[in-house]
Amino acid sequence: NWTTTNFIEDQILQIKNEVGDAEVICGLSGGVDSSVAATLVDQAIGEQLTCIFVDHGLLRKGEAQEVQETFGEEFDMNLVYVDAKDRFFNKLVGVADPEEKRKVIGNEFIKVFEEEAQRLGNAKYLVQGTIYSDVIESGGTDDSATIKSHHNVGGLPEDMEFELIEPLHNIFKDEVREVGEELGLPEEIVWRQPFPGPGLGIRVLREVSVEKVEVLQEADAILREEIKKADLDREIWQYFAVLPSMRSVGVMGDGRTYSYTIGLRAVKSKDAMTADWARIPHEVLAEISTRITNEVEEVNRVVYDITSKPPATIEWE
Ligand code: XMP
Repeated sequence: NWTTTNFIEDQILQIKNEVGDAEVICGLSGGVDSSVAATLVDQAIGEQLTCIFVDHGLLRKGEAQEVQETFGEEFDMNLVYVDAKDRFFNKLVGVADPEEKRKVIGNEFIKVFEEEAQRLGNAKYLVQGTIYSDVIESGGTDDSATIKSHHNVGGLPEDMEFELIEPLHNIFKDEVREVGEELGLPEEIVWRQPFPGPGLGIRVLREVSVEKVEVLQEADAILREEIKKADLDREIWQYFAVLPSMRSVGVMGDGRTYSYTIGLRAVKSKDAMTADWARIPHEVLAEISTRITNEVEEVNRVVYDITSKPPATIEWE
């Protein structure tokens, strides 16, 4: 019978046998799947594994630091932190179309990852956090090396050939979480909500800038804090803030303001194919709104998105 303990022991043995003394790399995003996969492989072959974490500057507040603390310090893995923020922001100048932004971010991500992998040199294996539902969706195991699960972009370039290690390809999301818990990963990672590969790049609507991303990170952090405080974090599928890149008139003291609007999005869903907007209690919404307008200087208006999917999508772009 299936237990997390058996699963972990089996996987560690299998990975050890397969890898031998070869070198292994892994792209770490901070998401549940890649985190659990990396930790399993680390327990099997430790020093032979190097994880690459690309910071594209479009992560949520505190996330990059959390990944470094958890994997680099607590778990003491070989972790290469790549600060690629400037590269991504430069590439995004003048890019306003959502699909175009996805392409730019996805392509740049592959480039950075490839450069780092080449710098490390001689890895034979690539760890992927593919889980069972990804396998079904893509119609079977794809043996070309892709980092699609987190960045829905194409594969790595042809000349980068890796053998894949996919320790989670037979298990479901809830089992991945159980394994993560058993491995001692922090709750914030094990129970992390789905987060798109292009990150805040598609939650700042239209053109992205460092300033807009910073405003959004602050507002989003307040939303997440309050949702957790209200104990709603496990029953809501995704909850996040968006910055529509639009300003409106407000009033503060004796003066008129002309500042950003923040949109709040929270949905209940089973698989992201359809979703219902979450009936968050008004008092919780009120607290979020008050805190955002008090604490984030550049924001003077907060709205709550009350559309389901369909006709809207979960993300705004
Ligand atoms: P939508 O907005 O289409 O989103 O209702 C459905 C689910 O997919 C996530 N999403 C993405 N994930 N790259 C990703 O890795 C993307 O470009 C992307 N766009 C949307 C979204 O967060 C939701 O969970």
